[in-house]
Amino acid sequence: MSQSSAPQFRGQRVDTGSKWYDLFQKGVELGTWNVERLFEEVGFEEDREVWQSLDDRERDQIRYLLSGFLDGEREVAGDAATNLQRIMGAPCLEDNEAKEMYMTMLTLTEHKHTQFIDVYMREVMDDRDNYAELDPRRGTRIPIVQATGLGEVFENQGLQTAKAAQTLDPVDIAKAATVYHLNVEGILARVGGFAINRLSQEAYLPLLNHGFKFVSTDEGRHITHGVELLKELVAKEEAGEPEFQGVKRGIVRTLHHDVPYMADFAYMFTDAVGDPLGLDIDDILLRGGHLIDGMYNETLGLDIDYVEMLDRVNDRYQEIREWDLEDVVEEEESHYRRRRGVATDGRGDR
Ligand SMILES: [Fe+2]
Ligand SMILES: [Fe+2]
Repeated sequence: MSQSSAPQFRGQRVDTGSKWYDLFQKGVELGTWNVERLFEEVGFEEDREVWQSLDDRERDQIRYLLSGFLDGEREVAGDAATNLQRIMGAPCLEDNEAKEMYMTMLTLTEHKHTQFIDVYMREVMDDRDNYAELDPRRGTRIPIVQATGLGEVFENQGLQTAKAAQTLDPVDIAKAATVYHLNVEGILARVGGFAINRLSQEAYLPLLNHGFKFVSTDEGRHITHGVELLKELVAKEEAGEPEFQGVKRGIVRTLHHDVPYMADFAYMFTDAVGDPLGLDIDDILLRGGHLIDGMYNETLGLDIDYVEMLDRVNDRYQEIREWDLEDVVEEEESHYRRRRGVATDGRGDR
């Protein structure tokens, strides 16, 4: 069982008193859910029946949401295995050994999330969103992700984590952790999890629901890691260490960069599609706002201007209203179908 107090043993290279050791150990004990076993125990049948009973607009809303997760989980798994793993060994950080150990747990769970969502979409839904043969690592994303700001956020995550893995500079690490742990995991994944929970009131998909309970618990540990990492960097900046000057500014700038793009994905699966499953855009945005306030202001002690954030969201909303979103998505889909060599319009063979 988990050691709530310090363990009675110690290592030589491994610091069993480190909070990252503790997170690693929690990952070993609690992150062990088995995706295949969940498929066996809950089965696909009930979800398939519910899916068949939904109308096109309801399906679209679920497809958009899960498409964001599918591309997102794949991106975070890839960046964790490469860039974040390397960042955890940066000389400017404490507890490198325990942080590197923890990162293996994070990577493992992100791959399980990808495994769950990928198989779920194939088995329960249909294959029009998966585009498995077009590798997202080479710049091909699911149309809805490509058509919205979500793709921009994942792009920024890749850029910032790759840069920090190269420079191992504290300010670059702060920016990378901000987009990865606070914005993608702490805001997008949490708000997405909230939306999945909410849609189950209208369309209860038992397997999806069970899977996302595990996903959310895993994400909680990932966010704790990210917040603790950023607290370490902020504390050193505040202690006056020269190398760390600019950490807080880097965190705030990264939020400002990502916020409008995160916001327009919310519009895609709520307002813009008529919200047949009652996810409620206002609730979603409120939830996002609380998460920003809790992580950035309360936990990290920053001073994020709420009104300015809302203004940015609003500006983006005005911009996105000018688009015909269905056209944008349709354009991406037809582009993909051409690459796939499929001659039909896609919808006909669903
Ligand atoms: Fe995940
Ligand atoms: Fe995660």
